[in-house]
Amino acid sequence: MTVTAVQSSAPKIGRLVVVGLGLIGGSFAKGLRERGLCREVVGVDLDAESRRLAVQLGVVDRCETDLAAACQGAEVIQLAVPILAMEKLLAELAKLDLGDAVLTDVGSAKGNVVRAARLAFAGKTVRLVPGHPIAGSEQSGVEAANAGLFRRHKVILTPSEHSDAAAMALVESLWRELGADVETMEVEHHDQVLAATSHLPHLLAFTLVDSLAKRSENLEIFRYAAGGFRDFTRIAGSDPVMWHDIFLANREAVLRTLDTFRDDLDALRDAVDAGDGHQLLGVFTRARVAREHFSKILARRAYVDAMHSTDLIFLAKPGSSLSGRIRVPGDKSISHRSIMLGSLAEGTTEVEGFLEGEDALATLQAFRDMGVVIEGPHHGRVTIHGVGLKGLKAPAGPLYMGNSGTSMRLLSGLLAAQPFDTVLTGDASLSKRPMNRVAKPLREMGAVIETGPEGRPPLTIKGGQRLTGMDYEMPMASAQVKSCLLLAGLYAAGRTSVTEPAPTRDHTERMLRGFGYPVSVEGSTASVESGHKLTATRIEVPADISSAAFFLVAASIAEGSELVLEHVGINPTRTGVIDILKLMGGDITLENQREVGGEPVADIRVRSAKLKGIDIPEDLVPLAIDEFPVLFVAAACAEGRTVLRGAEELRVKESDRIQVMADGLIALGVKAEPTPDGIIIEGGSIGGGEVWAHGDHRIAMSFSVASLRASAPIRIHDCANVATSFPNFLALAAEVGMQVAEEGKA
Ligand code: S3P
Repeated sequence: MTVTAVQSSAPKIGRLVVVGLGLIGGSFAKGLRERGLCREVVGVDLDAESRRLAVQLGVVDRCETDLAAACQGAEVIQLAVPILAMEKLLAELAKLDLGDAVLTDVGSAKGNVVRAARLAFAGKTVRLVPGHPIAGSEQSGVEAANAGLFRRHKVILTPSEHSDAAAMALVESLWRELGADVETMEVEHHDQVLAATSHLPHLLAFTLVDSLAKRSENLEIFRYAAGGFRDFTRIAGSDPVMWHDIFLANREAVLRTLDTFRDDLDALRDAVDAGDGHQLLGVFTRARVAREHFSKILARRAYVDAMHSTDLIFLAKPGSSLSGRIRVPGDKSISHRSIMLGSLAEGTTEVEGFLEGEDALATLQAFRDMGVVIEGPHHGRVTIHGVGLKGLKAPAGPLYMGNSGTSMRLLSGLLAAQPFDTVLTGDASLSKRPMNRVAKPLREMGAVIETGPEGRPPLTIKGGQRLTGMDYEMPMASAQVKSCLLLAGLYAAGRTSVTEPAPTRDHTERMLRGFGYPVSVEGSTASVESGHKLTATRIEVPADISSAAFFLVAASIAEGSELVLEHVGINPTRTGVIDILKLMGGDITLENQREVGGEPVADIRVRSAKLKGIDIPEDLVPLAIDEFPVLFVAAACAEGRTVLRGAEELRVKESDRIQVMADGLIALGVKAEPTPDGIIIEGGSIGGGEVWAHGDHRIAMSFSVASLRASAPIRIHDCANVATSFPNFLALAAEVGMQVAEEGKA
C-alpha cells in the first residue's frame, strides 16, 4: 500500500523513533510521517508481525529490532509501550548514549513514568517530556493506526521545573502538528484527574458487569438489560490487560478517588436503607446538573470545532414592522432572589416563571453546592427544599458565579455570616468588576473578606465571624449593595439599615416580606433585624422588564409596528425605561394591571412612534439602569439630541456600557459623544457595519434592535452572553418579525 505524504512543511526533525507500534504509537508515527515532519521515522516493536505491518501500511519508514541501533542519532524518541513495560524500557535506554535526543511518552499515568525515569537515569541528564494523549479507539494494534486520531483531542504534558524548555517546545509542536490541543499539568494533578474521570469509571463498569455476570446462573440475565445498562457498561469492553496495567501504575491516585467514592456510595446506601428521599433527591439533582454541564462542554467543543472560534456572531438585517404578543423570560433580579430566599426558608418553596439563563443558574448552582436540594428548573418551575437560615453547608470548592454580578454581590453578604469559608469567582468580565462597594461595608459589620487586586474578584470570605448591624449610607444607588447588606443583616446582631441616595429596585425587601420576614422601609432607608425566620412560599416570577425593553424600543422605532408584551413586571423601581420612552414620544400603554406575589405586573402594548431627543431626567437613571444600551439606540433613531448625565455606574456594568455603545454607534455612523457620566447622541440615520458586544448581553441585543433602522446589515461580535439573561432572544425576535440570527444559521 502506498501512502501519499501530505507535506505540510519542511522536516522539523531528523529521526523520530517510536518504540511500541500499537494504536497510539502507530498513529503518532503515521501522522508525523504523512505530514513530512521527520526526515525518517523508525519503529521498534517486539512483535515481528507489527513491524512488518507498520512498514507495509506506511506507518514508519523502517523498523529496527535493536533499540540501540534505532536510537543512535535519534532526535525524538516516543515511548508508546504498555505502561508497565515503561520501567524496563527506560532502564534499557539509560544504558545507551542518547546524545541530545528528546524522550517523550504516551502513558496514561505519569507518576510511575517519572519515578521510573528518575531511577533509571539517576545522576545522568535526560531530556524527558512526559505526555499523555487523551484519545483512543475501540480498535487496537498498528493496523488501526490513524494519522488523524489526535485531531482536536487533548494532549497533557507534565513537565517538571527541571524540564528542558526547548525539549518541551519541540514535543508540544509535534502534537500540535497532529491537530491536538496541548495543555500542561503537574504530574500528581494529572494522575488524580485521570483517576477520577477515566480510571474510576472503568473500574466501576468492569466490576458491575462482573458482579452481575458471576452471580447469575448464566449470562441470560443480560437479555433483560436495556439502554441504561448498555450506556453505563460500554467501557467494560475495553482491553483488560491495558487496564490491569493502568490500575497498577496509578495505584495511589486510584485508591484516593475510590475511597471517596466508596464513602459517597455508602452514604447513598444508608439513604436508601433509611428511606431518606431528600438525600437521594439531593444527589440525583446535583448529578443531573453536573452531567448537563458536561454535555454542554462537549457540545461547545463540537461548536468550537465547527467554527474554529468562540466568537458567537449575530447577523442583524434591516427589518420591516413588528407584530404579535410575546412573553419574555422571567425577571433576572427576582429569579436570583427566589433561589436565595427559598434556600434560606423553612419548608418547600415553589417558583414559577424562573429565568433559565446562565446568571440565575449560577446562583442556583451555588446553593446546590452548599447542600440545598433544588429540583428543576423545568419550563420555569423550580422546587427549593429550604434548609433554614442556619442550614447551608460548606461547598467543596470555590463558588463560580459566571458573568453574574448580582450573584456575587448578594451572596457575599450572606456568606460573610456563615460558619464556613467560601471563595467566589467569576468569568473574565465579572473578574474586572468592583467588589469593594460590598466588601468595605461588610467589613464594617465585622466580616472578614479579601478581594483580588483593586477590589476585584475573587472574593475570599472567612466564615465564623460575628456580624453587627449598622446604619449604612450608600455612596451610590445600588440595589445589589443594599440587598447584600440586608442579607448580612439577617444574621447580624441588632438592626441593619441601608439608606440609598436614590430609589433602587426593591425586590429583596418585597420578597423578604413575602417569606414572612419583617422589613421596615422609611423614606429611603430599609432595615432588618436578625432573629426572625423565613417561611417557604410560592413565587411567580413576572417577565423581565429589562428584557421587554429591547422590544419596547424595537417596536417604537420600526415603522408600522404593534406588539404586546405579556405579564411584565412593572415594579415602580424598574419602569424608568417606560417613562423615558414616553418622554421621547413613545406610544406605550399598560393593560390588565394586577399584582402577582407582591410584584405589580401588566401587559404592555407598544406601537411605533416618532421619537424625539430629550435630556434624560437624572432621577430616572437608577430606575432604568440596565436599559440604557437600548435607550441609546432609541436616541440614535430620534429627532434631535439626547443627553444622559449622572450615569457613571454604566461604566462598571458587564462592560463599560457608555464607551462600548459609543464605539458601536460611531462605527454605524451615528454621532455619539461619550462623557465621563453619560453620553450625548444626535439622532439621525444608522448605517450597517461591524460592532463588538464585548461579551455584554445587553449590548449584543441593543445592536440587534438597531438593525431595524439600519441601512445595511449589522454584524455583532461576541454575543454568547445573551444566554445569561435572555436565552431565547433570537427565537422571540424572529417570532415578532426581526431578522437577526447567529451568523451561518440564518
Ligand atoms: C441588580 C441591580 C442593578 C442592576 C443589575 C441587577 C439586582 O445593579 O444593574 O442588573 O438584581 O439587584 P446595581 O446594584 O449595581 O445597580
